[in-house]
Amino acid sequence: MAARLARSGWAIIRCEVTLMQIQNIRWKHFASISSLWHTACDVIVQCAAQALSQRGQFSIVLAGGHTPRAVYRLLCKVQTDWSKWHIYYGDERCLPRDHADRNSLMAEQAWLNHVAIPASQIHPIPAELGTEPGAKAYAATLAGIGDFDVVLLGLGEDGHTASLFPGEPWDNGGPTIAVTNAPKPPPQRVSISASRLSAAREVLYLVSGAGKQQAVDDWRAGKLIPAAAVRPKNGVDVYCHSVDIS
Ligand code: 6PG
Repeated sequence: MAARLARSGWAIIRCEVTLMQIQNIRWKHFASISSLWHTACDVIVQCAAQALSQRGQFSIVLAGGHTPRAVYRLLCKVQTDWSKWHIYYGDERCLPRDHADRNSLMAEQAWLNHVAIPASQIHPIPAELGTEPGAKAYAATLAGIGDFDVVLLGLGEDGHTASLFPGEPWDNGGPTIAVTNAPKPPPQRVSISASRLSAAREVLYLVSGAGKQQAVDDWRAGKLIPAAAVRPKNGVDVYCHSVDIS
């Protein structure tokens, strides 16, 4: 009897470990923000070269916010076969397409308008439709797309990533989330879910700013902040500047 219980106990533990992928994190601190930007750009270019040689195309999910903008500017100058790049977004704010706070507009102005990626391969989230219709439409866009080659993410001061916020849904069993109550304006957004963001070969967080120290400390202490819910099988790289990870 005792042996049977012990056997079933092991089975339960093994099953939970299998279901709950552990987030393996590689932390890297940069003394200068410029070295963080350049290293991020180099990593993206290397991942692209590998994807193009192995699979003939490269897919990348872009982050919004301020930190990645300089990386996007650096990407304008690299030599690559842009005709094989496919661009997606991790999240978008429910604002008109030409609103200054749109993540898609930022990426277009900093990078995408300056390189020859075919327009049909750039997939902004149609968040101007509203949360539910935008999330539904983007789920359709992502249907049949396999693992992303690279997912770029940021970290908010409250631990949010993409538009997955503490206290709001991070996962709903589908690829996208209609966010109706984001604490960071605007409240209405569309986000890729934590599990769909986890379906990626490389996940790279760009974290800069002393205001993110508490979120980083919580993350390092094992607290389940939204950034900790993205758990690709290859682990995640977190590039930090202006926060202490010693
Ligand atoms: C957004 C984001 C968000 C962002 C973080 C960090 O659209 O608001 O995608 O998740 O990445 O808030 O932003 P910063 O780099 O500006 O600090």
